[in-house]
Amino acid sequence: MRAMSERRRLVEQEGRRHAVRRGMRGRLHFENMPRLHKLLEFLVRVTLTKDRGVRNVLDVRSEEVEIVSGELPAGFDNTRILLVTDLHIDGVDGLAEKIVSVAGAVDYDFCILGGDYSFGAGSKGSLAYSRMKDVAAELRAKSKVFAVLGNHDRYSTGELLEECGVRVLVNESVCLEKGGDKMYLTGLDDCHYYGADDIELADDGIEDGAFKILVCHSPEAYRQAAEAGYSLYLTGHTHGGQICLPGGIVVVGGATVPRRLLKGRWRHDGMCGYTSRGAGASGVAVRYFCPPEMTVITLRKG
Ligand SMILES: [Fe+2]
Repeated sequence: MRAMSERRRLVEQEGRRHAVRRGMRGRLHFENMPRLHKLLEFLVRVTLTKDRGVRNVLDVRSEEVEIVSGELPAGFDNTRILLVTDLHIDGVDGLAEKIVSVAGAVDYDFCILGGDYSFGAGSKGSLAYSRMKDVAAELRAKSKVFAVLGNHDRYSTGELLEECGVRVLVNESVCLEKGGDKMYLTGLDDCHYYGADDIELADDGIEDGAFKILVCHSPEAYRQAAEAGYSLYLTGHTHGGQICLPGGIVVVGGATVPRRLLKGRWRHDGMCGYTSRGAGASGVAVRYFCPPEMTVITLRKG
C-alpha cells in the first residue's frame, strides 16, 4: 500500500467536521445532514417498515454481469471478478456471515473490495474492524483480494486489510498476468470525501496501450479515467439509491454524476463502467426497492 497522502492526512485530522462539499450546496448535501438521517430513522420506525428494511439489507445475492471488450487480451477471456463494495459491515448483525456465504457459493478468479467497510468512520478496535478481519480472512482463503478505500474509511482500515493479506491499492497499479498476457488493475484513493485520488500517480509506469481496469470507490472520477485510457471502471458508493421508490427509482444518489452512472452498467467516451448497488447500507441501515448485490463480472473478448 502506498504511503498516506498529505491530502488524506489533513482530512483525517479534521475528522467529520470536513463536509463532503463546502458552501450552500454542501450544507444541503444528504451526507452532511445527520438530523435528516435521524428523521428518516424515526419515520422508518413509526411506519413499522424497519424490520422489512433490515431483512432487505441481509438479502445479499450475487449478480452476474458480462463485460465485452475488443481490447481485452485473449489470456483474460472469461476471467471472473467478484466485486464487493459498501459493506458497512457493522451496520447490521449477520451481514458479515452473509457476505462470506455468498462469496463461497460463486466461482471467480479474484476479488475486489470497493471500499466503505464500516457504518461510521471506523477506528482500530471497533466492531467493524474485527468483522472485516474475519471477512477478509475468509475471502483471502479463496482467492487474491484487492481493495480500495472509500469515504467511510481511514488509512488504518487499509493497514488492517493488508495485515489480512489483502493488496490495498492507494493510487497505484498492479500488473496481472494470465495465459501469457498482461493487464493492469489500478486502485484510486477516495475522490468523494477525501479528495485523495491521484490518477497520474496511479497510472505511472503502465505500458502504453495496455488494457487497464480502474477501481475507485465512487464513480465521480469517470472523466479522468476515460481521458487516461481506462477500458473498465468498477465502482460503488451510491448504494443504487438504497432507499428507492417502487421500480428502483433513485431519490438520493450521493454522487455528483449523471443519473445513468448511479447504478448498473454505463459507458462514457468508449470506457465501460459498472456501479454496484453495494452489499450493505449506510445512514439508516435499511433498503427499499433496491436489493444489495455482490457482483460477479465476467470479462469477455468481443
Ligand atoms: Fe457506502
